[in-house]
Amino acid sequence: MTSFTPPLRGNNRHLPFGDQQDSAFYGKDIISVKQFDRKQLEYIFGVAHEMYEMVARVGSFDLLKGKILANLFYEPSTRTSSSFTSAMERLGGSVIPINNVKFSSVTKGESLPDTVRTLEAYADVIVLRHPEVGSAALAAKYARKPVINAGDGTGEHPTQALLDLFTIQEELGRVDGLTVTMMGDLKYGRTVHSLARLLTLFDIKLNYVSPKLLQMPSEIIDEISQSGTEQSSHNDLNTVLPETDVLYVTRVQKERFEDTAQHETLKGSYVVTTETMTQAKEEMVVMHPLPRVWEIDMAVDDDPRAAYFRQMEYGLYIRMALLAMVLGKS
Ligand code: NCD
Repeated sequence: MTSFTPPLRGNNRHLPFGDQQDSAFYGKDIISVKQFDRKQLEYIFGVAHEMYEMVARVGSFDLLKGKILANLFYEPSTRTSSSFTSAMERLGGSVIPINNVKFSSVTKGESLPDTVRTLEAYADVIVLRHPEVGSAALAAKYARKPVINAGDGTGEHPTQALLDLFTIQEELGRVDGLTVTMMGDLKYGRTVHSLARLLTLFDIKLNYVSPKLLQMPSEIIDEISQSGTEQSSHNDLNTVLPETDVLYVTRVQKERFEDTAQHETLKGSYVVTTETMTQAKEEMVVMHPLPRVWEIDMAVDDDPRAAYFRQMEYGLYIRMALLAMVLGKS
């Protein structure tokens, strides 16, 4: 979000009760997990709790009545786009869904900055998913309204990391002191890039389990080591499973491979089965940002430690909280 103040904004001095326009999040973009500190995370989780209670009690309420969200998706999405839609609608706002850019002016060659400047004329906040790293930061540079990064290529997926962290906190009651094992496609998976960074704010241990070709990028490993967080790479889950509190599994990101034959050879490298679960702690969780392809056997779904479907629901409350906060209504 640029610091430029649009001419139409100067008249909101007399705010109705409930507005929080002096809050740290009002009018802010959410581009990277690097922008958060622990105090802010606590605040977001507190608001998410309130959202949970409100949804349980009344389903929807009018906190964001009159506000409009532009949901701009240049890549496929089921959970992220529909949870943002649900979040906005449960808060009484409405949504402009653009998830098939084939039918928008993007196919006429419109640039991302122009598309964003168009949508903000109609909407109060823009949620963007785009295949290029840095696209959300670029959009935010041109936008006057808040931009929320819903995934920029292999870069970051900050709202997913927030909901992942919230899931860990809710399911295990704490984050400090835990061992988190990330397994699967750590090279292209943006969710693990964001989550690993966010976890450096806590006293945790990180294990990476992946085939050699899909290892966590060295820049991220370097960044994490600067924070002093203990991390280590493995190619066999069995060596770290017994100490694991959170097993975070990702799918191989097929769409990011230039060489499809390579994808075929890596397919099926690591699969969590009921047999795997017999080696895991009794108090632990298996998480996955979803979609799952083959990396967690469906038989594992019945295990109470399988948290991936609950994780999806936590995402609704986190996204409700974020929308309320950036729109100054938390
Ligand atoms: C993830 C994504 O898009 O990065 N999905 C999601 O947002 N829940 C993970 C993935 O696609 O594998």
